[in-house]
Amino acid sequence: MTKRWWRDGVLYQIYPRSFADSNGDGIGDLGGVIDRLEYLEWLGVDGIWLNPIHPSPNVDWGYDVSDYTAVHPELGTLEDVDRLVSEAERHEIRVLLDLVPNHSSDRHPWFRERPEFYVWSDKIPNNWRSIFGDGPAWSLDPERGRYYLHNFAPEQPDLDWWNPELRNEFERILRFWFDRGVAGFRIDVAHALIHDRDLRDDPIIPGLGLRRVYSMHRPETHEILRTWRSLADGYDPSRVLLGEAYSLEVDDWVRYYGENADELDLAFAFMLVHADFDAEQMRTVVAEIQAALPEGAWPCWTGSNHDVGRLATRWCGGDESLARCALLMLLTLPGTPCLYYGDELALTAGHVPPERVLDCATPSRDPGRTPMPWTRDGGWDRPWLPLEDTSRNVEDQRAEASSTVHFTRDLIALRRRLADLRSGTYTELAAPEGAWAWRRGENAVIALNLRENRVEIEGVAGSIALTTTRDREGEQVVDRLSLAPRAGAIVVGD
Ligand code: NOJ
Ligand code: CA
Repeated sequence: MTKRWWRDGVLYQIYPRSFADSNGDGIGDLGGVIDRLEYLEWLGVDGIWLNPIHPSPNVDWGYDVSDYTAVHPELGTLEDVDRLVSEAERHEIRVLLDLVPNHSSDRHPWFRERPEFYVWSDKIPNNWRSIFGDGPAWSLDPERGRYYLHNFAPEQPDLDWWNPELRNEFERILRFWFDRGVAGFRIDVAHALIHDRDLRDDPIIPGLGLRRVYSMHRPETHEILRTWRSLADGYDPSRVLLGEAYSLEVDDWVRYYGENADELDLAFAFMLVHADFDAEQMRTVVAEIQAALPEGAWPCWTGSNHDVGRLATRWCGGDESLARCALLMLLTLPGTPCLYYGDELALTAGHVPPERVLDCATPSRDPGRTPMPWTRDGGWDRPWLPLEDTSRNVEDQRAEASSTVHFTRDLIALRRRLADLRSGTYTELAAPEGAWAWRRGENAVIALNLRENRVEIEGVAGSIALTTTRDREGEQVVDRLSLAPRAGAIVVGD
């Protein structure tokens, strides 16, 4: 199989409003991303994924798109996208955008002018529930006197993927951005898109609630993904499709790679995202994924995003040593790692007082979306979401060789140097309870100790290439690796 940049590379997710502000209005923007390309190159990332940058009434902060081929004025212009793509290329960084095909904003002109692009019913036809709020997935449009489908907020009407003209529109949208040099898309709710044509009730599982097998997860979704994949592969270099294929059932999730490797290039492994940061749980999830992945399919590992929040808080309770263990894991599992801005600082969830909450979801996702702390005073002027804790910030960590940002940078650089870490096979090794060790390829062993006492991992030999504690690098290991609590290491065979 041809090696593609995203199989070897490291992705980095940018929430544009919170990354960097170039004009001092408190809202991060494309100019801010351009200004920070030097930092991203220094860190060593290969591609950035930007959450939606399009015009949007921001009911769901960009995930309610009112124009798919334009840029929200607060974030910049189309020219800024072009500048970002070409400047990023100079730093050897590719740019991925977010495609939101399941729904548009109700302010998209289509909602009035092209009603056939949406899903209508004279009465509420089934038991489908909206993901935001706790109501039916159907709302009355007073102007038409009919109900429309919205799997998310009422302001996010679902598009009707049974309509071939809508499919054509989206192919045009994909081409519009690919032609501008965008390297690919993260596809929002890639598991939903099309709904059951007969609008059948979702089954109710006692104790668990609705199983969304008719409102989402329809087999015809795969057909749409196949079309996009062939469109993306028609470009040179071919464009990458990274899906938010949200399924926690491994057998269902792997289907999004396609029976003939002809759908998504990459899919976020949400099974890992939702596992506890516990050696037993993590290694079980990884083993299940490894066993189920079809030949050549490549997972995408992440621990944080704008929905689930930050790994340093979720997985590690704020503990920086554990956060480094999580980074070590994400960057050395077989697949593509995707860091969320701030992961490299072990950034924790921000504090957003109730009167500053802007998210439409409950509980609010704002703590995972607060501004990037660039300096000790933040580097922001009255940001759109509060930035209170700046103790972990870029400036201080860049100046300190033992910091987490340097650890992340050195880890990425090591991954670049050692082919085993990027593409070597994954073999789990025996490890005591609370620890997890695996070999990549012939020569690299990664070991994590997530418990509170020292552990010994037998059968490891070579020299220590990197530790989360930064204290034993270069040390020779003969047959047994001893690991302090909450620590991890990479040992490379001689
Ligand atoms: C998934 C996105 O990641 C999330 O932020 C959004 O609210 C929903 N899709 C709806 O678009
Ligand atoms: Ca701005």
